Amino acid sequence: MENKKKSNFSGSLGFVLAAAGSAVGVGNIWRFPYLAAKDGGGLFLVIYLILVLTFGFTLLTTDVAIGRRTKQNALHAFGTIRPRWKFLGYLTFLVPALIMTYYSVIGGWITKYLVAYLTFGGDAAAQDGYFTDFITSRISPIVFMLVFLAATAFVVYRGVEKGIEKFSRFIMPGLFVLIIGIAVFSLTLRFQDQDTVRTGLQGLKVYLLPDFKGLTVKRLLEILLDAMSQLFFSLSVSMGIMITYGSYVKKDVNLSKSLGQIEFFDTLVAFLAGMMIIPAVYVFFGTEGMASGPSLMFVSLPRVFEAMGPAGSLIGLIFFVMVLFAALTSCVSVMETLVANCMELFHTGRKKMSLIIGVIFAVAAVIVCLGYNIFYFELPLPNGQTAQILDLMDYISNSFLMPFISLLTCILIGWVVKPSWICEEMESSGHPFGRKKLYAFMIRYVAPVIMAVLFLQSTGILNLLRSFISR
Ligand code: PFF
Repeated sequence: MENKKKSNFSGSLGFVLAAAGSAVGVGNIWRFPYLAAKDGGGLFLVIYLILVLTFGFTLLTTDVAIGRRTKQNALHAFGTIRPRWKFLGYLTFLVPALIMTYYSVIGGWITKYLVAYLTFGGDAAAQDGYFTDFITSRISPIVFMLVFLAATAFVVYRGVEKGIEKFSRFIMPGLFVLIIGIAVFSLTLRFQDQDTVRTGLQGLKVYLLPDFKGLTVKRLLEILLDAMSQLFFSLSVSMGIMITYGSYVKKDVNLSKSLGQIEFFDTLVAFLAGMMIIPAVYVFFGTEGMASGPSLMFVSLPRVFEAMGPAGSLIGLIFFVMVLFAALTSCVSVMETLVANCMELFHTGRKKMSLIIGVIFAVAAVIVCLGYNIFYFELPLPNGQTAQILDLMDYISNSFLMPFISLLTCILIGWVVKPSWICEEMESSGHPFGRKKLYAFMIRYVAPVIMAVLFLQSTGILNLLRSFISR
């Protein structure tokens, strides 16, 4: 078993594709655009890009190098580095467990849209209220979620090794081309009534150009927290997945180069998804429509497809098929982590564990679905969002737990074992580790401070302190 797990990927391409398969998912296509829109476009984008080049690179490098050096998954990797830090492995494990509760719900939404395009050409999906009517209904979101979850569980049940590589190889490039095409089309859109004209190009400006008007420190911190939470989520870092994937990578693979490719690809897809969605939202709904949150993609894209005329139904269909696969590869990686770790913890076989985890998360996801009707509430969060159960789970895992886990990881690597431990692994294949100095500086000084600030911000403590001081 151990042997079979090691060096699973056929080479660097296999690793890059599988890691990109995990990284590129609804985070890029659904989450990134809605956060960027909520935070006013340009400023979020700039902050995110800076974070990717600094933090994203630091965190991804740390995870993958820990995995390859220890040859362990997250649960044991930290204990192998320093036995006292074993707890961090367990803490890391909580993140995919939380994400799994709602990822399949969004997967269900995508499945529903796919079916809508398959059966009625998507006309209904472009109507006002379609999305809200759907998610607030009792049965339908649960049924679609279960279909998506069953598909995920099936892949994991069968054994993920061959599956992921094969999937990613043709889905990723296809999705990429389609997103570019739709993004370009979005820029040609135009809306006109008596006294307003809004065009796609104006929307592009909103997306690209930072607007500093009325910016406060509080707002900046909110945006920073959103961008950082997005980074964690999108790159699948600080949640054990990249540690596990790192443990599958052969020693001769040039990690530095592979990680650069993963980072680049993940960010590019997110950027283009924003370009596909935000100008369209701007054209159809103006700047007010940009704050609509999780519904953004599901409300605006069908409008774009409708505007394409008859071809729109087909393009919409192909688009949702591809997004569904991207979501599936990501969800598989989340579930795989849970299953692989639980197999070790409870000494059970893959098949049994897949079934058990599948059932547990089906129950959890049903509760998340009911968050839009029976269990509906409106909870204000420290990032300015109003949350239902889904957003709350997302917030706890990405905005609260991940900065905390990253802070601890930075302390462990930066100060206890020292960055050279990671750098040695990065160079062990005989290739240079280009951003070595930046890495050491980030992990020791910058990352821990920013993570601590974000952690305080996410818990609301920082706001409390600030109002206390200004009193
Ligand atoms: N990175 C994935 C996305 O952007 O959709 C989501 C994800 C995958 C999150 C795997 C967490 C994870 F462990």
